[in-house]
Parts: sequence; C-alpha cells; structure tokens
Amino acid sequence: MIESLSSSRIPFMDRFGKNGPNGLGFHTTAEEVTKSIDLTGKTIVVTGANSGLGLETVRVLSLRGAKVIGMARTIEKANAIKPSANPEFLPIECDLSEPHSITKCANHLFNLGIRIDSIICNAGIMALPQLQQKYGVELQFLTNHIGHFMLVNLLMPLLTNEARVTVVSSSAHKVFSYHDGIQFGNFSGSNQYNPHKAYGHSKLANLLFSNELANRLEGSDQTANAVHPGVIRTNLLRNYNPLIKFGAVVADKLLFKNIHQGAATQIYASTHPDLKYISGKYFSNCNIEAPSRHGADQAMAKQLWEFSENIVNQISQGNYWED
Ligand SMILES: NC(=O)c1ccc[n+]([C@@H]2O[C@H](COP(=O)([O-])OP(=O)(O)OC[C@H]3O[C@@H](n4cnc5c(N)ncnc54)[C@H](OP(=O)(O)O)[C@@H]3O)[C@@H](O)[C@H]2O)c1
Repeated sequence: MIESLSSSRIPFMDRFGKNGPNGLGFHTTAEEVTKSIDLTGKTIVVTGANSGLGLETVRVLSLRGAKVIGMARTIEKANAIKPSANPEFLPIECDLSEPHSITKCANHLFNLGIRIDSIICNAGIMALPQLQQKYGVELQFLTNHIGHFMLVNLLMPLLTNEARVTVVSSSAHKVFSYHDGIQFGNFSGSNQYNPHKAYGHSKLANLLFSNELANRLEGSDQTANAVHPGVIRTNLLRNYNPLIKFGAVVADKLLFKNIHQGAATQIYASTHPDLKYISGKYFSNCNIEAPSRHGADQAMAKQLWEFSENIVNQISQGNYWED
C-alpha cells in the first residue's frame, strides 16, 4: 500500500475520470473516505471549524464517533458549530492572529488534561485586497502559517504516540508563489504585496512547516502531512470581486469540488489507517502528489522554522516583527 501511495500522482484530467491507485479521487467525499472507520475514542482538533471545509470536517468526524475540539475566532462562533457535531464536541475560542488567544486556548486544553490524536490546521484567509499587518507581520502569513505553527508547537506535549498533524495547504503554493519561494526579508509584506502571491506564500509556508515537522518527528510514530483540498466555493472567496465569483459559479459544475468532496483529503490524511506511518507528504484528491520545487526544499523548510520561532518569540511578548 505504501509503495502504491508514494508513486501515485493524479493528472489534471483524472478529476473527470478515474481515481488514484487507492481507489479514491476527485469525487470522493469525506463520508466515503471514512465509511469503514470508527473514530470512537479519538480526539481531533480542527481549526477554522465554523465554516466551509472545517465545518464539514467537524460533521463527518463527529459522525464517525470522534470527540472534536472545534476552534473558531470567537467562542460564539465555536458554540454555533454544536448542531453539526456529536455531544462530545468541545468548542474553543482560538484567534490564530492573536498569540494571546492561542496561548489561552492551549492552556485550556492542558488544564483539561486532554490527549490529542490529530490536529487539522484548516483555518485560513485568502487574498486580502490591501496589505494588512498585525504585530508587523502580513496578515495571511500570520494567520495561515504563524498561528498554526504556534498552536501546534504548544500542543505537541498533548499529542498521543501515533498522533497526526495535517496542515491544509493549497495548490496556490505552486500557482501563486513568489518565484524565489519564502520571502525571508519580507514577512511584513511592506517591500512588496500582491494579494494572491501573499496567499500562495502562506500556503507554501504551511507545506514547508508540515515537511519540517515530519523531519523533526522522524523516529517517532507521529506524522505530519500537508493537503490541497481542491477548489471549493466557500467563504474563502469573500475577497473576490462579483465577476470572479460569478465565474466561480459557472465553473462550479466543471472544476470545483462540492464541500463534501473538499473535506475528504484532510480527513483522509488525518484518519485513514492506510496512512499510519506516512509522513512528510503532500496530498491532493486523497492521493500523494508532488509539491512544487520550493515545496520540496528542505533547507527552505528548516530556515522557515527558525524564522517562525523568532517571529513567535517576538510577537508573543507583544513586540512588532521587523524584517
Ligand atoms: N476553498 C478552497 O477552494 C480552498 C482551496 C485550497 C485551500 N483551501 C484552504 O482550506 C482551508 C479552509 O478554507 P475554506 O475554503 O473552508 O474557507 P472558509 O469557509 O472561509 O473557512 C476558513 C475558516 O478559517 C477561519 N479563520 C480565518 N481567520 C482566522 C483567525 N484569525 N483565527 C481563527 N480562525 C480563522 C474562518 O473563521 P471566520 O468564519 O471567523 O472567518 C473560517 O472558520 C483554508 O486553509 C484554505 O486556505 C481552500
């Protein structure tokens, strides 16, 4: 199984036709991918759990018996998830752009003595039309990457021996990225800012974080993988202009996944028994896919980890990051 997984690659046209070597593909839904999986007794953290792919992820994990810890920007939004989950659901406030909120959330889980089997780093924002910064850091990079980097590192002591970390990246890490990859001299976005490239930058950071985490977990049975969920019409598109949104509606039937298909890959990576010892991979359509050149750059991943630690250290003390 491992061999067939690692050699699999889904060409573009396969989204309209056959599935990958494991029988799963573009059209596979989150319910289908878990149909024979019992998650009773498993505790799974989902960030950005109140909307889009996160909400569907909560619904299906709950359906399979997992205790889901659903994180959202506010406790009101986290509480609103309850109707989609089972009675074990635990709502928690965690604003990933606020170090204080992340620390408070992690401390809360420590105090509850919870053990975590899986973390799905799902929350994200996309293509902010104008440069926005917090603590001196470009907001997409801060929310999508730094917030998750900080949260996962704080929660590491709570992870079970075979825990999985799944980071929701995007094919935007290939399509929209800056030509030289991570912008080590421009985490503020002040030197240059392009809404889509900044999003691709944050998604490349997601992927490299997962890769370097997998390196650091080597020798243990804990794993880290990154996924591209597909293209799905969710609130993520809120910053697109109406014309593009109309195009998205028209393209919907052709190129877009529905929400049930969109949540499949992250649920597959974080729960499927076939992936027990698979780590450091990038998944799309529930199959392993090759990342971009920068997405496979181990030196860049190491350097990003060190910079991310420095950024977290700075902003956790209320200081501003300076490039
Ligand atoms: N949809 C796609 O086509 C697509 C493609 C590739 C990758 N992805 C990735 O998939 C993931 C889920 O996106 P989605 O499509 O489901 O979008 P979505 O419906 O907009 O959901 C994003 C979630 O992230 C949360 N979030 C945003 N900022 C946050 C913050 N500061 N702290 C905590 N949570 C925050 C949102 O909370 P609020 O509701 O409060 O804003 C929401 O719950 C993202 O990482 C995205 O980059 C999506």
